Amino acid sequence: MNITAKTIPLGVIGHPIAHSISPEIHNFIIDCLELNYFYCAYHVLPQNIKAALEGVKALGIKGLNVTVPHKEAAATLCDEVDSYAARIGAVNTIVNENGRLKGYNTDAPGFMANLRRSGVCPEGKRAAILGAGGAARGVAAALLENGVSELRIINRTRSRAEELAADMGKFYGDRVKAADSAQGVQILVNATSVGMKSDDTPFTDFGVLDKDCAVCDIVYCPRETAFLQMAAEKGFKTVSGIGMLIYQAVIAFQLFTSQKPGEEIIEKLFRRLDMKKSIVLTGFMGCGKSAVGRELAQMSGTELVDCDDYIVKKTGKSIPQIFAEKGEKGFRDIESQCIRELSRRKSVVISLGGGAVLRRENIDLLRESCLVFRIKAGVDKIMRNTAGDTNRPLLCGKSRAEVEAMLDYREPYYRNCDYTIDVSNMYPNQSAKRIMDIIMNEVGGN
Ligand code: ATR
Repeated sequence: MNITAKTIPLGVIGHPIAHSISPEIHNFIIDCLELNYFYCAYHVLPQNIKAALEGVKALGIKGLNVTVPHKEAAATLCDEVDSYAARIGAVNTIVNENGRLKGYNTDAPGFMANLRRSGVCPEGKRAAILGAGGAARGVAAALLENGVSELRIINRTRSRAEELAADMGKFYGDRVKAADSAQGVQILVNATSVGMKSDDTPFTDFGVLDKDCAVCDIVYCPRETAFLQMAAEKGFKTVSGIGMLIYQAVIAFQLFTSQKPGEEIIEKLFRRLDMKKSIVLTGFMGCGKSAVGRELAQMSGTELVDCDDYIVKKTGKSIPQIFAEKGEKGFRDIESQCIRELSRRKSVVISLGGGAVLRRENIDLLRESCLVFRIKAGVDKIMRNTAGDTNRPLLCGKSRAEVEAMLDYREPYYRNCDYTIDVSNMYPNQSAKRIMDIIMNEVGGN
């Protein structure tokens, strides 16, 4: 990307915003289509939303995505709001048309595009939504707009379900109602935030669903939530939330630029972000695994799990303490057990301790369900990164020659990894991007 005085700015506002992967998605599309735009994230506090939108006009920002908690305020602050977004009462996409801000909602069509991509047709189906917040509102409008015969809103707080049903009823009639049961439904959508970065599920009563029910989630981290996992185990078709995120961005991008990302770009985005396999980073101490892991988790909208942190949490002891009490073998036994547990985690980035490769079975096990990347760095970088670090018992006080000898000794063990990335001359974000590109190009996706 070559930013010049002619480059057209796009962006996203939210609070918080640092976790957003919209910049990754939009800048990827910009690169693929070789357009002169760039897209970045702005942290906007609730009290500043009005000023921010005035700033969009003043600065000539061409397009803006809006995320939590600004979507409802944006709907009232745009100069014009399209009828679909007005029904939902939330705007997630704003196009600056020569100083006039026009608001749209691409969450709803994004949800629907993802559903259809998965082969689910809503026409004439009985559907139910779990949740009655802002996200549920978009999903409800999408399902009703696309011809479901009946829509039940099921929510922990019944009064909010009734409120949403009444609001939607104004446009879509009595097909929509608050309910307590999903008995016989053919499409079930989790539109609560339950399951995000946790093993919780908002629903367990899968036995009452129609046998051909499609079970969908709007949560995308993890890609397969406990809700979807339980549904899949019971034999239901499942639809992950990541596709909704991709499609809402693709539709917004088209509104911003009038350029349509083709199917091949959408497929690439799915391959980049699907994360069917967790990503494991291994490499010598001080090679920069954790920094690359943080970047990678940010870019892919997933969690970073550090194996050493996991060990510390599980045992309640620091790594030097475990070494002192149990020796290296005792530590490696605990580490192998923790790796076994972590290998079952889906769609996360796992950063391994430097010596985990010494037991071949650790890497063999991880490779069954994950993609294993070796992060390789030269001895200079390693010496620099580990200088004065007392938390690495095997490296403490070692000379350059001793570190070189350790590197030579371990070298053959790393050959068992899926890929090697030499990060000696790369920033962590560049290394992470290289890994994302590899994931995307894996035969058949990751
Ligand atoms: P959003 O705009 O992101 O949808 P929201 O307006 O806070 O967020 O709505 C969150 C939805 O998730 C609500 O339907 C909420 O239920 P309540 O209306 O009863 O609060 C639902 N939700 C959140 N945590 C939940 C939990 N632990 N169990 C069940 N539902 C939950």
